[in-house]
Amino acid sequence: MTFTYSPIVDPVFQSTCRDRNEEQYIIVQCNDYGDVPINLPGWKPEPICLTKHYPRVAESIKQMEVRPDDVWIVTYPKSGTTWTQELVWLVCHGLDYQKAQEISLEERFPFIELGGIRELPVTMNPLRDAFEMPSPRFIKSHLPPAFLPNALWTVQPKLVHVRRNPKSVAVSYYHHSVSLDCYRGTLENFVRSMMNELSYYSPYHRHLIEYSELRYPNMLSLCFEDMKRDLPETIRKVCQFFNKTDYSEAQLQQLAEHLSFDKMRENAAVNKRDWVAYNLRQTNRSDKLNDGNMQFIRRGEVDGWRNEMPKSLVEEFDGWVKRNIPDDKYSYLFE
Ligand code: A3P
Repeated sequence: MTFTYSPIVDPVFQSTCRDRNEEQYIIVQCNDYGDVPINLPGWKPEPICLTKHYPRVAESIKQMEVRPDDVWIVTYPKSGTTWTQELVWLVCHGLDYQKAQEISLEERFPFIELGGIRELPVTMNPLRDAFEMPSPRFIKSHLPPAFLPNALWTVQPKLVHVRRNPKSVAVSYYHHSVSLDCYRGTLENFVRSMMNELSYYSPYHRHLIEYSELRYPNMLSLCFEDMKRDLPETIRKVCQFFNKTDYSEAQLQQLAEHLSFDKMRENAAVNKRDWVAYNLRQTNRSDKLNDGNMQFIRRGEVDGWRNEMPKSLVEEFDGWVKRNIPDDKYSYLFE
């Protein structure tokens, strides 16, 4: 069997998951990982926390056709995926702002496992969309390497990975879970789940370490904090990676402007406002639509966690982050 599915047996989780709306969480182990080129002796993928919907897509993703001109963006959730998707798509499409406005990012860039982590409206099937999409395809995933298609490792299309500071990820993921997954716990509950490796897509450390140890010649690694510090520099890196080096300085400047937080936040093609509205409606929370924390493009800060995480929780979380870094050479991944 390619995948093994197990319930979460932690008794505290079991007795409290309903309060937080986490009853659907399960642990998924991938048993077919021999082709994944990870540079770690004796490496075996860790089981990850997903939802009971995952079997719907697991095998189809693993056996999926991969095309040489595909572009894959993989991230741990809340690391700047959407921001990077818009950047990459525009660089690869001659800065066609009009098309980017007319076609939503979800349609341009299907999130392949979405139907395997939650119920979707019947009309929505991003995995099928990815199968049927004409080339070149642009594909988003939050899965760790072992869960991605086997063919990725032989076909080797371009792969972009983005990471973000763990405290920023935790806070952003909490708000995402409240707005989109009807999470009912507190921020502290959420952060504790992440420390217990029981927020979905956990474990966080293994995700970053595995991508950093991939022997994959066609990969670009980006970082949210670098994008915030100097977006034009990241834009140049992306252009170089995709061999699109003919854009003028003025064009690059215009792209940086398009990708600014304020512009992205008001851009209906990327801000997932319809999706947030749909989820709030489904859970009778339409009154929250204008709540700033319910926006998908929410704050976009590098140190917003300072205002949201109590000091004692920060200390505990920092200790957890540090303890789970197996070697100092990986410390940069968690800064
Ligand atoms: P916050 O919740 O901290 O605001 P992802 O796309 O991986 O889910 O990541 C979402 C995070 O990226 C959110 O973080 C969102 O606000 C931030 N983000 C999206 N576009 C951005 C931009 N143009 N500038 C800065 N941050 C952005």
